[in-house]
Parts: sequence; structure tokens; C-alpha cells
Amino acid sequence: MPYVTEATLTDIAMDRWSNIPDARLRQVMVAAVKHLHAFVREVEPTKEEWFTAVDWLTRVGQKSDEKRQEMILTSDVLGVSMLVDAINNRRPSGATPSTVEGPFHIPNAPEIANGQNVTDGAPGVPGLVTGTIKGLDGKPIAGAAIDIWQTDGDGLYEAQREIDHAYMRGVYRSQADGSYIVRTVAPIGYTIPMDGPIGELMSKTTISHFRPAHIHFAVTAPGYHSLVTHLFVAGDEYIETDVVYGVKKELIAAPEYSLATKLPSMRTSSPAAAASPGRIDTRS
Ligand SMILES: [Fe+2]
Repeated sequence: MPYVTEATLTDIAMDRWSNIPDARLRQVMVAAVKHLHAFVREVEPTKEEWFTAVDWLTRVGQKSDEKRQEMILTSDVLGVSMLVDAINNRRPSGATPSTVEGPFHIPNAPEIANGQNVTDGAPGVPGLVTGTIKGLDGKPIAGAAIDIWQTDGDGLYEAQREIDHAYMRGVYRSQADGSYIVRTVAPIGYTIPMDGPIGELMSKTTISHFRPAHIHFAVTAPGYHSLVTHLFVAGDEYIETDVVYGVKKELIAAPEYSLATKLPSMRTSSPAAAASPGRIDTRS
């Protein structure tokens, strides 16, 4: 074993961290040392810069609690969450793409009858979301659970309001022909939390800290892969600059406006859910 020099340190550290019986943990830690050392060799931080980074990471941890997750937000704004999602959701052609779940999903949402309202008097522009759940073979899937959650018309989720009941979320079921109708209000774009270390960092950049308007979907059906995705509203000013990189072309739907009712109605313009062996599709 050579003594440490600037030239030998990375190899010595990688060799030491290869002494892990668990093969996967060994692979992860050796790669972590390798890439962290490469990062430091490229950036060559001063001591002051290094302590600034350590302090920032410390505050990311301190800002996190059971409701606030600044570390996930860090992963999101660096594009890492979407990369992990992509790696874990490689699906056949024709399957609806996945996207990040985000921090606002609350499990065990109440069941809502097809076509009934999820808003409970929430502010916003009323409208309908319609679609059909299909397998990759094109056959409709009945009884799929369609768990949706979204902001109200003020851009706020249930977790951001002082509220003690389910709000802007619920589980719909696809009908015998695979169709479903969600009665809701139009979601609007919103900013990520800017009052923590991530906001402090973002404010030093010219990067948009907004997400475009979207509705979250988690679709499950027996015998099919589950799907976590969004439906984005076409024309949103942040559609090309989503701060968490969540927008995929197939997930953008254009609202239609009814002259009779003035209510917007959203239909997906492309398959909006899916999985092998079956495709789940919100196209109507
Ligand atoms: Fe969201």
C-alpha cells in the first residue's frame, strides 16, 4: 500500500472502501468515492468553499422534518429524482411514461364515485378530466384504481392548508369500458418552497423555481404494473422549464372549452398511463 499523495489518495480510498462484504453496497461506495474525488479534483474547492458546502448540506438536513423534505427537493432540482424514476420505469413502447411522485401524495385517499367532485368547494376554475384506462393490447381495464391529487385553484395542496380532511385528492375507479370522469378545478403552476437552503441556492441562479400546472396520477390494476405520473396542462408558461424536470411530451394535454358551459374539459392527447404487460391509457 503506497503512502498518501495527492496522486495516490483516490486509489487508496477506493481500495479501502472495497472491503465491504455486501456486493451492492461495495459497488455503491466505491463508485461514490470515485466520483466524489473526481468532483473535488475538477472543482478544486478552497477550504472556505468546502465549509460553505458542508454548512449548506447540514442546513438541508436541519430544514427537513416529517412534513418538509429539503433533501428530496435537492434531488428534484438537480434532476436526480427524474433520472432515478426513468431508470426504474423502463417500459415498452406505447406505455404511458412515468414521472416523479413528488412530496404531496397522501396515502389512503377516499374513494370517489365516477364523475363526482374531488374539490369540496375548493377555489378554482371548474372542469372535467376524462380518459380511458387500457392495456398495451388496447383492451379497456375495468376497476383500475386512479388515485389523483393536485393543487386547488390557489396553487395549494392539502398539506399546505390548515385542513383536517381529504382535500383535492381521491381514488376514482375505471368503469366497465375503462373510462373515468374526474370533476375538479384546474390546477395551477406553483413554486417550490424557497424559504430554505434550496431557495437560497436557486436565488443565486436564473433558473425558474416553478412547476407547470399538473394533476398527479397513481394508477393500479391487478395484473398490471402500477404507474405514477402527471397530466400537464398544455400552454402553461412553465411547461418547458419545470424546475424538477418532470414534463414528458406524452403527458401534456390541451384543455377543451365548452361554449355551452364555459367549463374546461381535459382529455389526454396521448396514452397517459401504462405498463407492461398491459397499458393503462387515459385517452378517451
Ligand atoms: Fe405536484
